[in-house]
Amino acid sequence: MSKTRVLTGITTTGIPHLGNYAGAIRPAIEASRDANTESFLFLADYHALIKCQEPERVRESVRAIAATWLACGLDPDRVTFYRQTDVPEVTELTWVLTTVTAKGLMNRAHAYKAAVQDNINDDNADPDRGITMGLFSYPILMAADILMFNGEKIPVGKDQTQHIEMARDIAQRFNYLYGDTFSLPEAVIEESGMILPGLDGRKMSKSYNNTIPLFEGERKFRKLINKIKTNLLEPGEPKDPNDSALFDIYSAFASPDQVADMRTQYANGIAWGEMKKVLFEMLNEELKDKRDTYNQLMDDPAQLDAILARGAEKARDYSAPLMADVRKKVGIGPIAG
Ligand code: TRP
Repeated sequence: MSKTRVLTGITTTGIPHLGNYAGAIRPAIEASRDANTESFLFLADYHALIKCQEPERVRESVRAIAATWLACGLDPDRVTFYRQTDVPEVTELTWVLTTVTAKGLMNRAHAYKAAVQDNINDDNADPDRGITMGLFSYPILMAADILMFNGEKIPVGKDQTQHIEMARDIAQRFNYLYGDTFSLPEAVIEESGMILPGLDGRKMSKSYNNTIPLFEGERKFRKLINKIKTNLLEPGEPKDPNDSALFDIYSAFASPDQVADMRTQYANGIAWGEMKKVLFEMLNEELKDKRDTYNQLMDDPAQLDAILARGAEKARDYSAPLMADVRKKVGIGPIAG
């Protein structure tokens, strides 16, 4: 049986937090161990430039994200793990795909439309104010990421499904014009992906400024856990596990038995201070070895580069022949053929 090819990209802005770990990193690493799949996972650093024009932050984020995935158990021998910008065929294919993509298709992209709508709401004379061509055409870059490796299943958040549809449209257009070349990718929506609450009880997200960095030093980590919002109920008063950020985070890491037991402790009025201690200890137990590995990798950027370079080599085993085929099909390349 041939293996299903699963491919996904991580935009390299920001430093991974506990919510990224429970919602994306941990499930993706587990899925990558499935013997029936072949995984491609890459750091989308060209995508990062669309959102962030601070070179130091982009560089730091690539480093932290690469170190995080490896520290969390991603096996670079099993998974093709690479940095997008180490595969030059990606931008080359992006241009070729740009020439077959209808501008009208890009006009309909949610991210672009939302940016235009913001300008209209702000009474800007120019509805395209502040919108770069990078933002406008980034679904084409994303299509190239996917089609380059004939990715079949693409695990993404809900907000990205339209981009996968667009990649299908673009692939079909190319196949129609130049003959069958690309398989059509399918989005796999990470519904089951856990959503963790952040410090203030809302979804943990960089945009709410309520995150707990995954590999914060132990003392700071404990402090942050202690800051998670609770209510004013006293020790001994029964508490509602269905309305407790602490309980939700606990549940994302504990076994079913532990969760059931914690429900009882809530009914019995566990003190918030005690609950925070239990939560910290459980999380710290899960993360401490990984944190050590993370710190080692962060201190050894040359090793990170070497791992990514090996990944890029594997990736280019696919992308170089595919790009040669595409060039030939569209009629570019040596005149002698
Ligand atoms: N745009 C995606 C995001 O912001 C990241 C990404 C880039 C991606 N290229 C991809 C995801 C290709 C899946 C496949 O989440």
